[in-house]
Amino acid sequence: MVNPFTPGFGRSPAILAGRSAALSDFDAALRGELPEQRAMLISGARGIGKTVLLSEFEAKARDAAWSLLPLHTGSSSLSDELRATAVARLRELDPDAVASHLTGAGASGFSASRSVTDRYAGQDEPLGDLLDRLAALAARDGHGVMIALDEVQSVDRAQLHEVSQHIQDLMRRHGQVVFVAAGIRSGVSKLLDHEKTTFLRRAHRLELGPVDIGTAAEAIRMTVADTERSITPEAAVRAGEISQGYPYLIQLAGSKAWRAAGDAPTIELEDVQGTRDAVVAEMIRNVHGPALRDLSPRKRDYLEAMLEDEGPSNVGDIARRLGVDPRYQSTYRERLIEDDLIEPASRGYVRLSLPYLREALEERRLGRAATDLDSGLDRTRTRPVTDIAPSRARGQETRRSR
Ligand SMILES: Nc1ncnc2c1ncn2[C@@H]1O[C@H](COP(=O)(O)OP(=O)(O)O)[C@@H](O)[C@H]1O
Ligand SMILES: [Mg+2]
Repeated sequence: MVNPFTPGFGRSPAILAGRSAALSDFDAALRGELPEQRAMLISGARGIGKTVLLSEFEAKARDAAWSLLPLHTGSSSLSDELRATAVARLRELDPDAVASHLTGAGASGFSASRSVTDRYAGQDEPLGDLLDRLAALAARDGHGVMIALDEVQSVDRAQLHEVSQHIQDLMRRHGQVVFVAAGIRSGVSKLLDHEKTTFLRRAHRLELGPVDIGTAAEAIRMTVADTERSITPEAAVRAGEISQGYPYLIQLAGSKAWRAAGDAPTIELEDVQGTRDAVVAEMIRNVHGPALRDLSPRKRDYLEAMLEDEGPSNVGDIARRLGVDPRYQSTYRERLIEDDLIEPASRGYVRLSLPYLREALEERRLGRAATDLDSGLDRTRTRPVTDIAPSRARGQETRRSR
């Protein structure tokens, strides 16, 4: 039986957890009822479900027979891509896209040949005019135009500026135009600091976060219920807890539980229990690993200073541990919040914001310690790092093991 879960990136899940408000708002935006949400910027951590939500929006636009112009950040020129997709849509909508006329008929009448001229064959028509015509043709049928851009944080600034001018002009002239961009929160913040991104700065901001545990458990239960197998309520709740409501982990926890149950018709609590360590390890590998690799040493020190606390950390304690003054501390606090790595807890406290980030940091710290040992600093340490399951590598134990 095929595993119905979709752990990975950009893979739409069988059951979408916790996005109904965003989806109904988008419906309203398509109907023209929410003009302030016609330009939207989806942001959030890696694996929180930005690409999936953007795809859902695109599907809604397509269902409403809107013309969809998806842009890809990998393209060498964003405006060329916008032009090419606009032309492709125009060819579908424009009755005059191709004019065909008789060029000559022989006496018998059978040798008539037709010459076909493609109105959009040349590249000389200004992009603004093409977009205008597309929006006008779409509006004639009561539809609109949607422009979508994922991974917006990776787009070249100058190119982004150029296409956003076109999009802005288009929105000014036509009612039924929707623009949705999505990107990693930290990258998006940096992008918005840039002077030429006013348009994006003014866009409606949709910040995605985790869903609650009950919703996650229900999504897991429903995903299994759509197959020939079932999952007990306790097992679904436990898998939901392991996911901590984080969308990528919903799929990962569900997928591991599915496999752990083997051929059994029902997934039981015991099947789920044993999967936690594997789920954590994969989360570290696929989500935290890439994020922590690019982290500056100062930010890393800050995060590691938080590991001494079981729960939220007092910012004064962090400053003391780092041996820095509180102002310096608050600079890094702000940056790490932008990076989605920590979040404010109660007044004067912060906590690690993503599930299993603590385990990832502890594993990295141990990994570095092991590298130091391997390089001959101390050969007496015997316990190999790989023997320490992330779930056991908690603060106190970690320090004792040194
Ligand atoms: N609302 C959701 N409910 C359940 N699973 C989801 C949801 N959104 C995303 N996922 C799953 O989470 C993972 C990451 O989704 P993706 O959209 O690629 O994240 P992002 O673009 O934010 O990095 C995928 O495995 C996807 O199937
Ligand atoms: Mg994505």
